Amino acid sequence: MQAVLNNAPLKELDEWDDFVATRYQPGKTEEQFRNYAADANPTVTEFYRLNHAYQTLDFVLQKKAEYCGLTRGKKSIWEMAEYLNTLVDDSDPDTDLTQIEHLLQTSEAIRKDGHPRWFVLAGLVHDLGKVLCLYGEPQWAVVGDTFPVGCAYSDQIVFPEFFAANPDSKVPEYQTQYGIYEPNCGLDKVHLSWGHDEYIYTVTRKYLPEEAQYMLRYHSFYPAHRHGAYQYLMTEHDKRMFDWVRAFNPYDLYSKGRERPNWNEIKPYYEDLVSEFFPDRIDW
Ligand SMILES: [Fe+2]
Ligand SMILES: [Fe+2]
Repeated sequence: MQAVLNNAPLKELDEWDDFVATRYQPGKTEEQFRNYAADANPTVTEFYRLNHAYQTLDFVLQKKAEYCGLTRGKKSIWEMAEYLNTLVDDSDPDTDLTQIEHLLQTSEAIRKDGHPRWFVLAGLVHDLGKVLCLYGEPQWAVVGDTFPVGCAYSDQIVFPEFFAANPDSKVPEYQTQYGIYEPNCGLDKVHLSWGHDEYIYTVTRKYLPEEAQYMLRYHSFYPAHRHGAYQYLMTEHDKRMFDWVRAFNPYDLYSKGRERPNWNEIKPYYEDLVSEFFPDRIDW
């Protein structure tokens, strides 16, 4: 069964991930990066148009109220991974990875580099928040580079021209540098555009070390972790923790071309890993 995606310019959710990977291909110059629009096909451009127009402070607060109470029932990590996998039935099985394969390629690349077990686990679960799509959320409220709402938009966000259509851009209080926030108040107090990062962070935070929490919560916050934007909202602690977000990012971006994971071989390791950190079922 193909999941019904409302308001969906992207053919698959992965189209956004592919765009980001192309944008940050190793060896690209800053000049080439600034030409990112050339890497965006019309569906990706349309996706950003919607994302920038609809991600308002009110929208983010409403989605946090809707999802962050974790009232959608108990499921295991594996049940959620199986559920997420129902998203890709329409893709080409020869070239496209399933959602679980992307998670396992990311975690396997982390494991091969000898990182701690919690780091591998962060790789395994980092995109499970994309189940928001199966809850009926439009693509622009699930994926996309995240950015703070309720304060001025950084010029390091891609397609900044699309913010003109966002009602928040007409609210003077939201368009000063700090907006509704205080200088260096800490990212925990800052509302980012709504998506899969915040949801998986909320679901898993009780069970993971803080470094992993930062990786999950901010892995799509490209303006900050790739371009150094919004330092004026961060504490010194946030800035230190972003070293971990940056350490995680290449595994998310560049593990795709690697060999397909052999599930039967690696299954015992991952079952063990998940049960080391998580109880059988957790709140979603
Ligand atoms: Fe992600
Ligand atoms: Fe990912």
